[in-house]
Amino acid sequence: MDDLNSLVEKYVKKVLFTEEEIQLRVAEISERINEDYTGLEPVIIAVLKGSLYFVSDLTRQLNIPLSLDFMAIESYGPQPSSSGAVKLLKDLDQPIEGRDIIIVEDIIDTGLTLSYLIRNLKARNPRSIRVCTLLDKSVRRLVPIEITYKGFEVPDVFVVGYGLDFEQKFRNLPYIGVLDIDRAVEDFYE
Ligand code: PRP
Repeated sequence: MDDLNSLVEKYVKKVLFTEEEIQLRVAEISERINEDYTGLEPVIIAVLKGSLYFVSDLTRQLNIPLSLDFMAIESYGPQPSSSGAVKLLKDLDQPIEGRDIIIVEDIIDTGLTLSYLIRNLKARNPRSIRVCTLLDKSVRRLVPIEITYKGFEVPDVFVVGYGLDFEQKFRNLPYIGVLDIDRAVEDFYE
């Protein structure tokens, strides 16, 4: 079986954001959240699994009290694109009525996952909901999403690393790279 370095050599065409660039941007976002939520105690909701490293780095730089909760969602349809059909695999552990919510995502693509999620969470009557995403692939957006905190805009390429996967692989890279999707699809599926 290939180790991660061999997989990277084979399928990662280039580095889009280095570990240092990501960490700098995460620090900037956490500074803004610290300012905006001074005196408040938000509920940070991370959408699994992609947001794992982002939410981990982000929340460790927040100096406000907060609750951390997780949701897992499965989207259906032909990979690697989203079809919009979603299923809730893991719900929140706590009620969020009256609370200030920050949804943390690794990437927003079509926006279908998040629009489902926002609708679902709004029905529970939180005080506010804001969206924080590391990556925004806005060129692919099908439904409008208001993003308050955003790390980087990304072009329409297949990105992996820092939580983002292809066939569950590459998540644990500390940087974000561009996958050679044609080659990967050919080797993995055919
Ligand atoms: C990714 C990402 C978002 C969603 C964005 O999750 O974390 O939840 O896709 O796509 P959309 O804007 O087109 O709806 P994915 O389904 O890859 O699951 P994962 O985080 O577990 O890898």
